[in-house]
Amino acid sequence: MTQFAEFGSREKDGWSDPGIVEAYVRHFAPITDAVGTGMARRFVQPTDTVLDLCCGQGTLTAQLAATGAAITGMDFSPEMLALARRAAPEAEIVEGDAMAMPFADASFDRVLCNFGMMHIPDQPKALSEIRRVLKPGGGFAMATWVGPAASPAFAAVFGALKTHADFSAAPPQPDLFAFADAGQAKGMLEAAGLEMTGHETLDHAWVIDSPGELFEIFLTATVGAGMLIRSQTSETIQKVADAIAATVAEKHADGDGYTVPVPVALISATPA
Ligand SMILES: C[S@@+](CC[C@H](N)C(=O)[O-])C[C@H]1O[C@@H](n2cnc3c(N)ncnc32)[C@H](O)[C@@H]1O
Repeated sequence: MTQFAEFGSREKDGWSDPGIVEAYVRHFAPITDAVGTGMARRFVQPTDTVLDLCCGQGTLTAQLAATGAAITGMDFSPEMLALARRAAPEAEIVEGDAMAMPFADASFDRVLCNFGMMHIPDQPKALSEIRRVLKPGGGFAMATWVGPAASPAFAAVFGALKTHADFSAAPPQPDLFAFADAGQAKGMLEAAGLEMTGHETLDHAWVIDSPGELFEIFLTATVGAGMLIRSQTSETIQKVADAIAATVAEKHADGDGYTVPVPVALISATPA
């Protein structure tokens, strides 16, 4: 399929794992759902036909359905789709791959992709599919994490991994944070026939009770980072956990707990 085929098949397995899905919904969704709420408010009109691409647990799908828009949620994980069907019974929920969508050309006024793009092995293909299913004059919006250079949460986790972990077993993958860079995002969108209309950073944060929680979140609620951590020796895993906890304790104490900023990039585009 692509140079990142092994990464893609690990993503598919990971997002179909009930334990990862449950932990994701508990730890990440409070932030990603808040981002989705803002996206829905800004980019969707009640008269729109909308695709929630990589809809996951379906919270955004449900919010979009509540606006009166005709909404389709699509994801490739049966585990996630079961949650989405429960969350958004009035939406059409479809199983499919973002790189080969089961929709006719020009089907949607809006395509939203909330924290999905970085999990797709062939992003140029997914972007050209988005372009294909958008109506002329339609709009695309996506959210993604800002990278470690400007994200305290990702700096703590990736800093510890880079210092202590052995990455040799990790399959090659696309740059997780490419779209957070406005220049790279613009280039990738343009190559797919989409013109970038907005690129901004939103402030979000994890509010946690103990310094050790950030490591637990990445161990249990992510696919790629969790797999990388579990592939290490128990001694290395302990070093990574300790390093992340030390950073959180040193830099992010806030009253009785800890607040770790995790900024988000919001990108919008229209067919060129
Ligand atoms: C990080 S979760 C985001 C879920 C939800 N949109 C949110 O904002 O919390 C990524 C989702 O993308 C889905 N996904 C990843 N790669 C996909 C692909 N190639 N095609 C369809 N869905 C995919 C996963 O199954 C998962 O539900």
